[in-house]
Amino acid sequence: MADNHHPSPVLIPPPSQVQNEAHVKSMDQYREMYKKSVEDPVGFWGDIAKAFHWESGPTGKFLEYNFDVRNGPIFIKWMQGAKTNVCYNAVDRHVKSGNGSKIAFYWEGNDPGDCGKVTFSELQDKVCRFANVLKSLGVQKGDRVAIYMPMIIDITVALLACARIGAVHSIVFAGFSVDSLTERLIEPKIRFILTSDGVWRGSKLLNLKAIVDSAVDKCKEQGHVVDHVVVCRHLLPEEEYVVNDRDVEERPGQRPSPQLKIEWHAPRDKWWHELVAAASPDCPPVWLDAEDPLFMLYTSGSTGKPKGVLHTQAGYMLYSATTFKYDFDFQPDDVYWCTADVGWITGHTYVTYGPLLNGATGVIFEGVPTYPDAGRFWAIIEKYRVSKFYTAPTAIRTLMGFGDDFVTKYDRSSLKVIATVGEPINPEAWLWYYNVVGNKQAAVVDTFWQTETGGHVITPFPGATPTKPGSATFPFFGVVPIILNEEGKEVGVDVEGYIVFSQPWPGVMRTVYGDHQRFETTYFKKFPGYYTTGDGGYKDKDGYIWVTGRIDDMVNVSGHLLSTAEIESALVEHPTVTEAAVVSHPHSIKGECTYCFVTMKNGSTYSPELAVELIKQVREKIGPFAQPDFIQEAPGLPKTRSGKIMRRVLRKIAIGDRNIGDVTTMADESVVDILFKLRPDTA
Ligand code: WT7
Repeated sequence: MADNHHPSPVLIPPPSQVQNEAHVKSMDQYREMYKKSVEDPVGFWGDIAKAFHWESGPTGKFLEYNFDVRNGPIFIKWMQGAKTNVCYNAVDRHVKSGNGSKIAFYWEGNDPGDCGKVTFSELQDKVCRFANVLKSLGVQKGDRVAIYMPMIIDITVALLACARIGAVHSIVFAGFSVDSLTERLIEPKIRFILTSDGVWRGSKLLNLKAIVDSAVDKCKEQGHVVDHVVVCRHLLPEEEYVVNDRDVEERPGQRPSPQLKIEWHAPRDKWWHELVAAASPDCPPVWLDAEDPLFMLYTSGSTGKPKGVLHTQAGYMLYSATTFKYDFDFQPDDVYWCTADVGWITGHTYVTYGPLLNGATGVIFEGVPTYPDAGRFWAIIEKYRVSKFYTAPTAIRTLMGFGDDFVTKYDRSSLKVIATVGEPINPEAWLWYYNVVGNKQAAVVDTFWQTETGGHVITPFPGATPTKPGSATFPFFGVVPIILNEEGKEVGVDVEGYIVFSQPWPGVMRTVYGDHQRFETTYFKKFPGYYTTGDGGYKDKDGYIWVTGRIDDMVNVSGHLLSTAEIESALVEHPTVTEAAVVSHPHSIKGECTYCFVTMKNGSTYSPELAVELIKQVREKIGPFAQPDFIQEAPGLPKTRSGKIMRRVLRKIAIGDRNIGDVTTMADESVVDILFKLRPDTA
């Protein structure tokens, strides 16, 4: 990592319409609250906790932790012994306080005109009935439940029903392949799956049930039996299927889809709506311990095997609710829309838990930003008068490419906060978002965080923070970021290093499911005393934090973290490939993409047809979103004398940069020239 001399950009002050009503109106106010949050976390979070329902208070210390591997096992415990229920706080509490008729979610389908809505009371009814369904199937506190569902209101019902009875949900994004789903079912021995018949994504029809069927078969081959598959009817037509929150008349689009064919395996498979019809709407919440698990969610790991990130009840509840309130400056009449899929952490924290815990009205969108055309996002913003909007840089860059007219023909005057997440946002895209989408009236909020952090850790406060395009700015309450060099020493201004955190905030993950040692090694070993993010960054002279991207073997494609090792292992499973090395390559829309070097087995020859097969293989092993952009033949790979692949050199070759730096440790330098010669022209 080199010193960084970033040009000092202009400061953009918070828009006055946001500042006037904001929870935090000035940097002085932010600094004062921040100081209290890091110096007296117990007092700070203790005050915040008062707004929630606790069946009983903590029995031990409010916060206990060890962040230093040299002092023994790592652990983090907030509010031990307190009893609560996240679902009760997210739903029942608002009904009790008289807000039952407020809209919890508007639902916007893949096709314009296909839409629905659900109030907090209706949501409570659905959640209670479905929680009773889960109980009737034998789901108990602590049982893992897999959810493989599209973006429909029922996916939030699924999460909340699990939370209500203390079951641990593990959502697998419904774009993961059969193999990825299988792996995520086997490790935690999951016996219950909630899915849906299918989903339209743009003009593509996905048969989710068929994917689940194959995964369940593969589990069986490996000795693991899934007992129950509950199927939510979303696309298949059926006379009796009328849900009270959807206007069935209003379905001019592709739904229902008679071309969808699903197989039925009784008694394993059950229709969601049939079970719900027989279930009671009365389901008291199970009071859970503050540190009982709430959910697990797999995220890529640098060794290739995904990690089940585990979050618990009280800390995650406080943190998701508080970051939501402050970073989007939540106001009761907001219409808030986060475009992320519930299958990713953003959809857990900022489609579901954070907004509901605040009693917010949200939008759930099933479709994609470019269908039926590139104006879809802005059409939806106009339709629901969205005031707070949250999306990914990759979507912003894609839509920027279609020109301003798609944006400006819709009324976006309702927008107050427009936020981003998932990857560094380049200043050009930031400015387009600010100038064109927000019309200079809305605050741009670039939120840095991870599946592991539970919620935002570095973020502007929309009514307080003067922003610099491309910087995630300052830490959230309770978070203490430090930039370290390789030796673990804090670096100076403008010097890039490792972003670490020195003390726990309530939303930090508690362990890797079933592998606490991996948790300690991945996040706490490199720099004892700190949580290591795996990201690089620097602080400028004004203290603004600039996140520059991953510094481990992870690639961030369109905001989805992929492990290069996982792609490599998918490639070498091909019978003709003996070795593979995957590196990150810049991409104008996706931010980064993958560039794969493959070495053929003796006797096999490389061909363009093989490249097509390899791409297909990665799609099948991991999922379509992991599809490599570049594949090239590598008769040999640059390696150190000890046999370590020199990825730094491969990254240079991938971008065609002959300036490959120090090669004194390389075993055989001649491979470099050959690799440059074999580079495809398109790369
Ligand atoms: C990684 C975490 C957190 C929700 C979505 C991704 C990158 C995330 C930013 C940002 C620069 C960012 C980091 C991080 N990242 N947000 N605002 N600026 N980089 O969750 O899959 O756990 O990925 O995404 O590299 O480590 P995730």
